[in-house]
Amino acid sequence: MNIIYVLYFSNRYFGEGREDGAPGTEEIEHVGALFTILKYLFAFSVSDYLPCLRALDVDGHKRMLKNATSIVNKYHDPIIEQRIKQWNESTEAEIEDLLDVMISLKDANNKPLLTMHEIKAQITELMLATVDNPSNTVEWALAEMIKQPQILDKGTEELDKVVGKDRLVEESDIPKLNYIKACLREAFRLHPIAPFNVPHVAMRDTVVSNYFIPKGSHVILCREKLGRSPKVWEEPLKFKPERHLMDDGSDVFLTETDLRFITFTAGKRGCPRVVLGTTLSVMLLARLIQGFTWIAPPHRPVELVQSETDPFMAHPLVVVAKPRLPIEVYLD
Ligand code: HEM
Repeated sequence: MNIIYVLYFSNRYFGEGREDGAPGTEEIEHVGALFTILKYLFAFSVSDYLPCLRALDVDGHKRMLKNATSIVNKYHDPIIEQRIKQWNESTEAEIEDLLDVMISLKDANNKPLLTMHEIKAQITELMLATVDNPSNTVEWALAEMIKQPQILDKGTEELDKVVGKDRLVEESDIPKLNYIKACLREAFRLHPIAPFNVPHVAMRDTVVSNYFIPKGSHVILCREKLGRSPKVWEEPLKFKPERHLMDDGSDVFLTETDLRFITFTAGKRGCPRVVLGTTLSVMLLARLIQGFTWIAPPHRPVELVQSETDPFMAHPLVVVAKPRLPIEVYLD
């Protein structure tokens, strides 16, 4: 999330930040509220099907979403309002982050394209879109790789070969990190962040793969069933990155256009930020693997157990990291 804060607000923290780089109370509260919103926004709610019940908020989702949204706004609003004021008062404001981009966009009459209200909504939408996938996928990928150390070794070897030990992995290395990307693809296949795709409604009668879908239907796909289908995948429950490597050594992509599992999906409503999502995920996993050796702590083996209520790990991954690069590389 620190990367996202920098991308949108040019700051790694909302509060002062801590010397050890760990999140402070502000960041913990903010990210917690984003996850609450994600949990309830698309959750099954009886009032979606019986609108007469909406006012009663029988399952309490509306109240929870309102509380979480007000926490998110508490952190975003002062920054956005202050920045708009700066742009209005100065003729020399420069674009340094995505918030500046949104404020400086102009319509055909050279008037601001987005209102303050729209900018606030966009920032929240983008925060929601970025917070969950990379962190969940990398946590599962690392856990799976620690569980099968030969896979972790192969990932480390690839990084040593492509990048070496004298510098940290960079975005420009990504095209050559096929094994690391295959590990991430495998984590996306086995451990999608949400049990179902974002619900969409068919705008007209249509046929997809021999299924007739009448106009107005809600189309909901089970992501886990797709990714673990024995009709599509050999040994579907096994974490096996090799299955994504091409015989001719060509580039591995995190997108899955054939929808044999769902990562970014496809089409008009597919994820519009595939490059950023891929870059965030690959850089996170690659830097963790290049920078450290990872082992399970004594008496606490890594458990690949999914939570009973959602596809997250039942218990956050706890592992011991030991630096493996010369000290000056970390300080650069
Ligand atoms: C690994 C990272 C990511 C994954 C796996 C991912 C996946 C997805 C998926 C599955 C959808 C739903 C598509 C559909 O309903 O058909 C989606 C939608 C979306 N994503 Fe991503 N995403 C990622 C990162 C990002 C990032 C970094 C951003 C923006 C900064 C972003 C912005 C969006 C937006 C705005 C939508 C809604 C599009 C719409 O409804 O038209 N995503 N993403």
